[in-house]
Amino acid sequence: MSTPSLPDGVAWTAVLVAAQRAAESMAAEPAFRDPLAEVTLVHLGLTRPGQAPRWDDMPGGMAGLTRLMGDMVILRTLYNDRLLTDLPVEQIVLLGAGLDGRAYRLPWAGRRIFELDRRAILALKEDVARAAGLEQTAERTPVVADLAEDWPAALLAEGFDPSRPTGWVAEGLTIFLNRAELELLLTRVGELSAPGSHLGIEVATPLRRALSDAEAADDGVSRVLSLLGSGPPTPPHDWLAGHGWRLAVRTLTELAEQYGRPVPQWFDTSRGGATLWYFDCAR
Ligand SMILES: C[S@@+](CC[C@H](N)C(=O)[O-])C[C@H]1O[C@@H](n2cnc3c(N)ncnc32)[C@H](O)[C@@H]1O
Repeated sequence: MSTPSLPDGVAWTAVLVAAQRAAESMAAEPAFRDPLAEVTLVHLGLTRPGQAPRWDDMPGGMAGLTRLMGDMVILRTLYNDRLLTDLPVEQIVLLGAGLDGRAYRLPWAGRRIFELDRRAILALKEDVARAAGLEQTAERTPVVADLAEDWPAALLAEGFDPSRPTGWVAEGLTIFLNRAELELLLTRVGELSAPGSHLGIEVATPLRRALSDAEAADDGVSRVLSLLGSGPPTPPHDWLAGHGWRLAVRTLTELAEQYGRPVPQWFDTSRGGATLWYFDCAR
């Protein structure tokens, strides 16, 4: 069987962050295991079974990116796992789900997880999970959607119930969208959020400004920079509150302290890095 090709465009970033979760998963004392991430790398021919990713051998410049991103993906995974697990909700919506493996790794029986993303990445996930015989730990419903377009109809058609509270998550998404797209996205999420809903959303200050010219010229970094949209207004507190949410927030630096990990270089504000906020928005 030939090795499937890597997705291109922004879908490639879903492989990048899944690879970072796979590396954690295979570490000596992992903070979590992510079987979907592990088998995805093998499926794509990026590593062998039981072998952690070797960044210098990974295609598309993942090594430089991973150096700069440090444990950012691990920290946000831990933070949003806790947030979502503690919510008394039966429906979860992953906005820009990519290769998020929560439906295969968290003990969420009785919960329904709607995964919104573009067709190609959802199809890859389907193929990987089926080929590896992965068992779901929650009911998973993929929803093919462009989040910059009219996605609520597709979500409702799959059985999403707007009269019940929801746990929404937007991880690694807002940086790729433009201001007007984000305005519409937040308006729609708000319209579909019954009282008791929460939105876990990640927002960064402009990423390019936090890099030296040499760092920005790295293959993988320049690839990501070329995909960025204008993003939300920063600081985003007033914008989110203006959409009717009560905010609790942590910075990545605070999460690094909480979980005992080094502050990732790209987001080390004491050295001119970008600020990265993790909001728990409640209604
Ligand atoms: C960095 S990945 C993050 C994936 C996932 N949230 C995670 O943390 O593993 C970004 C994801 O956002 C998705 N995405 C970006 N823009 C999108 C859009 N307009 N509509 C749907 N999905 C989008 C990409 O396809 C990709 O899967």
